[in-house]
Amino acid sequence: MGKIRVALAGVGNCASGFTQGLFYYRKEKKQPFGLRRLTLGGYFPWDIEIVSAFDIDARKVGRDLSQAIFAEPNNTMGFAQVPDLDVLVHKGRVLDGVGQYLKGVVVVDSSPEANVPQVLKRSDAEILINLLPSGAMEASRWYAEQAMEAGCAFINVTLTSVASSPVWSERFKRAELPVVGDDLVDQMGATTLHRTLMRLLSAQGVRISETYQLDVGGGTESLDTLERTRDVKRKIKTRTVKSALPYEADVVAGTTDYVDFMQNRRDSYLWIKGTYFGGAPLEIELRLSTVDAANAGAVLLDVVRAVKLGLDRGEVGVLSAVSAYAFKRPPTIMPLEKAAQFFEDFISKTSGDPARRL
Ligand SMILES: NC(=O)c1ccc[n+]([C@@H]2O[C@H](COP(=O)([O-])OP(=O)(O)OC[C@H]3O[C@@H](n4cnc5c(N)ncnc54)[C@H](O)[C@@H]3O)[C@@H](O)[C@H]2O)c1
Repeated sequence: MGKIRVALAGVGNCASGFTQGLFYYRKEKKQPFGLRRLTLGGYFPWDIEIVSAFDIDARKVGRDLSQAIFAEPNNTMGFAQVPDLDVLVHKGRVLDGVGQYLKGVVVVDSSPEANVPQVLKRSDAEILINLLPSGAMEASRWYAEQAMEAGCAFINVTLTSVASSPVWSERFKRAELPVVGDDLVDQMGATTLHRTLMRLLSAQGVRISETYQLDVGGGTESLDTLERTRDVKRKIKTRTVKSALPYEADVVAGTTDYVDFMQNRRDSYLWIKGTYFGGAPLEIELRLSTVDAANAGAVLLDVVRAVKLGLDRGEVGVLSAVSAYAFKRPPTIMPLEKAAQFFEDFISKTSGDPARRL
């Protein structure tokens, strides 16, 4: 199989986890714990190459990606040695990239912005991954435009409506390019855990009356969320959890606060109240503690390889199976098992070789 040439818009914590993962799994070929799958349609994680990258922070722009991923204010865990990649981080267009709460945390670089489509074309990138802060909605759509201009497929990790927007998905279709999104699902996130518990409990005959999920984190994304996207994240997560229940219940799920000393850790608190046989009361309370950037890595590795399969096959517009499987805000939300099957069908149809799970 050939290489998969990707570009990154935003070199924050998520980009750091993803880049480190490519090198970590190159070394852990024999026991690749932590991945969802080793091969996908014949592609391995180490077939992915990062060929260009964009950011706006002075501590990242002009540096090799291998150093920029560890530059402040990034604060996720280091788990792999990344060699010099010969990929300089280029200055992107700022637009709404820095919210009020991030002023003073992000140091905007003063050099002129790069010609993004030109950099993408020169580096031969075939996929652009959008990893901007969730509040940078104008900038996210701007990068979607640049991807189209450069002839790149677009992966929208952020919650900005791109793949879920009929207008934008149509634009990618007309540009004859694939697009997937929006808002990446975590490998082991609180929303997935919450949905699974809702399904399990209701399948057991439990009548859930009230439930909440509260998330606290310490990365710059959590700070930005506090200012700009708390309400929309709450809406998306609440809708997703509600969709797992066959009846109405009081559900609140969403990001709550920023605690700086937590670094890139995320603590999620789940509380569930209901009744079962004869109206007997039932309560569940639990805490899930994860590292935010690491939680995106395995899913992103699957998404990149699936989009490459789409490119190989000449698929254009929204890749529905990939979006439903790997994103919280796809054009169509479906039950987890159905989305997983839809994704398996997509892969095996493409490769003629059923995906081998770990
Ligand atoms: N588990 C996860 O980490 C996860 C899951 C789902 C979605 N996401 C989404 O992924 C995105 C990235 O998350 P993160 O934790 O890496 O955030 P982050 O704040 O660590 O990184 C964002 C990066 O984008 C850069 N940036 C800001 N404006 C820019 C612009 N106009 N052009 C180029 N670069 C710009 C910032 O300097 C920073 O380096 C967020 O939207 C988040 O909601 C993450």
